Amino acid sequence: MIDRFKRKINYLRVSVTDRCNLRCVYCMPEQGVELINHKEILTFEEIVEIVRTGVEMGIDKVRLTGGEPLVRRGIVSLVRMLSEINGIKDLAMTTNGVFLDKYAESLAKAGLHRVNISLDTLDPEKFRQITRVGNVQDVIRGIEAAKTAGLIPVKINCVIKKSPQEEDALQVANYCKENDLQVRYIKEMDLEDGIFSKVIGGEGGHCAVCNRLRLTANGKIKPCLFDDLEFDVRELGIKEAYLKAVGQKPRSGTENKINKFSNIGG
Ligand code: 5AD
Ligand code: SF4
Repeated sequence: MIDRFKRKINYLRVSVTDRCNLRCVYCMPEQGVELINHKEILTFEEIVEIVRTGVEMGIDKVRLTGGEPLVRRGIVSLVRMLSEINGIKDLAMTTNGVFLDKYAESLAKAGLHRVNISLDTLDPEKFRQITRVGNVQDVIRGIEAAKTAGLIPVKINCVIKKSPQEEDALQVANYCKENDLQVRYIKEMDLEDGIFSKVIGGEGGHCAVCNRLRLTANGKIKPCLFDDLEFDVRELGIKEAYLKAVGQKPRSGTENKINKFSNIGG
């Protein structure tokens, strides 16, 4: 699929749930967010059909996100179903890593290629402050498990306040160097105020070369993270929702007043 600005659209990010076991301060309020009604959440069969149609239309790169994808029941089966679709060259997941120790091996066996894991600091106290409820050791174990399972290259997403030179970011960089991990820095963003910037060391946020579409957990295809536009696959049909999303993909992001990171997966 090619959009109005001649960008090739070949990447679909699939949010499989808006739920999460953590409460990162930049993502959610302490009490959590208003959740999508269970009845509205796409079934695995629907997700597979939407991805299959996307692949027929030119998608060859798929990433599972959340919320936290590993809290969706049966996630390993979903990965297996998706891995059986011919034409996906890259099948990845973005996770907070807490449950990876438990799931990495099954995910790899089910056909997942690789994972990106969020890690903003190595300091246990600060990690608890940022995630409100998390334990950094769980993530470290998760990272090890991902490497052992061959979910490589393992990439680390590190949210920074201002600069990759701040103390926590440097420590994460050091840890990544020593442990054969690729680090990507993401400046803290604000969807509502339209504050976003390029991912340092990654592809995100480069509007001129953006190749992405997003699928929300309740079946809406979004052409841009920083835009309210969304096209409901259940209302429009899958193909039409894709065509409309690609056809109306904005040149660059502005602001998004209707989504939260927790339901769009970053
Ligand atoms: N700004 C930047 N990154 C964010 N993420 C979640 N909320 C924000 C925000 N406000 C990141 C997480 C994770 C990815 C899915 O999105 O740290 O790495
Ligand atoms: Fe959960 Fe990720 Fe949001 Fe943190 S940033 S609360 S891990 S969805």
